[in-house]
Amino acid sequence: MRKPFIAGNWKMNMLNEPAVALAKAVAEAAKAHPGVEVAVAPPATSLAVVLDVLRDSPVAVATQNCHWESEGAFTGELSPEMIKDMGCSHVIIGHSERRQYFGETDETVNQKVHAALRAGLMLIVCIGETLEEREAAKTFEVLERQLRKGLAGLDDVALASVTIAYEPVWAIGTGLTATPEQAQEVHAKLRAWLGDLASEERAGQMRIQYGGSVKPSNVKELMSQPDIDGALVGGASLKPDSFAGILAGSYMS
Ligand code: 13P
Repeated sequence: MRKPFIAGNWKMNMLNEPAVALAKAVAEAAKAHPGVEVAVAPPATSLAVVLDVLRDSPVAVATQNCHWESEGAFTGELSPEMIKDMGCSHVIIGHSERRQYFGETDETVNQKVHAALRAGLMLIVCIGETLEEREAAKTFEVLERQLRKGLAGLDDVALASVTIAYEPVWAIGTGLTATPEQAQEVHAKLRAWLGDLASEERAGQMRIQYGGSVKPSNVKELMSQPDIDGALVGGASLKPDSFAGILAGSYMS
């Protein structure tokens, strides 16, 4: 049985004061739903205060990105070692917004994946096709490339630290959600490909999150699909009630 895993990606939102209030609310919601693993990814400027609030809570803290070197002349970047040292346990790698606006490629994703594993972090590795790619019937080709290149060189042991987040780019922040059937079709394929990279057993244990306009009203249906094990939530993770509603709807009670 895979434990549902819900992560809130706060993106470039939240000053420290609202971040503290939101973190406190997430801690309460997580305590009320012990059947779900919960993480939040605040902006770098709020990591310290959020880590402080969540220290004795079941909520894990992630960063939204990392660099692939452990230190050096890389102005503006954070290394996986710094992230770990600060007290974070997770890192999101390869989000489509980083691919789209900041030149992230499958190769840099792979470098970051290896660096984050070396630092002992848990990873959420994001993949997803654009609308153009879906309409050109390239969805599976794109996802297979992103998955295989992003995870190249990882063995069974390393993959135990990896969660995959399937986020169709056309569903992010648009209000459009992949139908549960569309998402399931992709998740099943992803798990089959993971079975090529690792053992079937490992592939069966790995969590594959769905992301893209997840909200309390659609999470139950998504989570009822056999290969959807959680969600990476953007907009709805910024409001305590909607994030709590997503936690509540993400497991069979
Ligand atoms: P939304 O939930 O706002 O669509 O964002 C999804 C996302 O990009 C999470 O990483």
